[in-house]
Amino acid sequence: MTPSPVTVTVTGAAGQIGYALLFRIASGQLIGPDIPIKLKLLEIPQAVTAAEGTAMELTDCAFPLLHSIDVTDDARQAFDGTNIALLVGARPRTQGMERGDLLEANGGIFKPQGEAINAGAASDVRVLAVGNPANTNALITQAHAPDVPAERFTAMTRLDHNRALAQLAAKLGVGVGDIRKLAIWGNHSATQYPDLFHAEVGGKSAAEQVDRSWLADEFIPTVAKRGAAIIDARGASSAASAANAAIDHVHTWVNGTAEGDWTSAGVVSDGSYGVPEGLISSFPVVARNGRYEIVQGLDIDEFSRERIDASVAELSEERDTVRKLGLV
Ligand code: NAD
Ligand code: LMR
Repeated sequence: MTPSPVTVTVTGAAGQIGYALLFRIASGQLIGPDIPIKLKLLEIPQAVTAAEGTAMELTDCAFPLLHSIDVTDDARQAFDGTNIALLVGARPRTQGMERGDLLEANGGIFKPQGEAINAGAASDVRVLAVGNPANTNALITQAHAPDVPAERFTAMTRLDHNRALAQLAAKLGVGVGDIRKLAIWGNHSATQYPDLFHAEVGGKSAAEQVDRSWLADEFIPTVAKRGAAIIDARGASSAASAANAAIDHVHTWVNGTAEGDWTSAGVVSDGSYGVPEGLISSFPVVARNGRYEIVQGLDIDEFSRERIDASVAELSEERDTVRKLGLV
């Protein structure tokens, strides 16, 4: 028997990430190779025609799993019945814009989207904020969807996680598949903390296989500033790697983490590791029974503590700013 279709909403569908993401979703890579997909694409009115062009190309791929495609500029219509909401469209920072202005502009996008999710999404809806500032955009969305369990709102740090895996694998001359239990803590920003102290390579501590100066002066800044390095090199922010990470995030959420491993995701804090309750911060997480759960009981040394605290302080500041703006 064919499983029922899953409805996936993608905002910012006419953008760069949208173009790298939609074909992979329609081909069955988001959830599983047997599950039909109904796509709903949300764009601003000026970009609806471009999104329709992408929809025409999706049709022309004749993907067996692609059940239907709707393109709209109406958030209520886009999130009606949605099971998975990928919030990619966001307001980028432009010259002269302060951080507060950026948060306010994004509040204008994510508040109505939260309200629309609250009003019409399916009861099992899962939400991933990709558009920056991803953690606080997820928080704004969640604040406006009080009827949806808070744990369903997440922010993407899987790209940072994947970047960290790739940097460590290259350093040690191993495959990324040989690395376990790496973690990104905090904000998806340059303050994030990629943590090697619990990571294992070949069953042994990763931190013990690299020297401390490489870890502190090369690994951490390379991972944390990789987004900016890509923008410098490409003249545009990462798109295919971001789309890939979004696919990984949802696929893991639905299908689970491998035994003996974990991944990283921005999830609502329950106060674990001193991260204020309610902030959407990145943690080491396992996915079980369709839920992300924060890995508990890890020892955090002084080196890690300082860096986690710094990134979490930035998240708290962002929350204070959006609170003052009445957005959460
Ligand atoms: P882009 O500018 O190419 O596309 C963004 C699209 O969003 C545009 O088509 C725009 O019309 C649309 N949009 C704007 N407001 C909207 C709204 N209210 N509703 C629906 N659509 C709307 O940008 P991109 O390269 O696709 O990146 C999208 C976002 O993802 C950016 O904020 C970027 O910084 C962020 N990003 C996050 C990560 C991460 O790891 N979390 C990585 C890369 C990029
Ligand atoms: C990334 O990590 O590649 C992006 O978040 C960078 C950006 O500012 O869009």
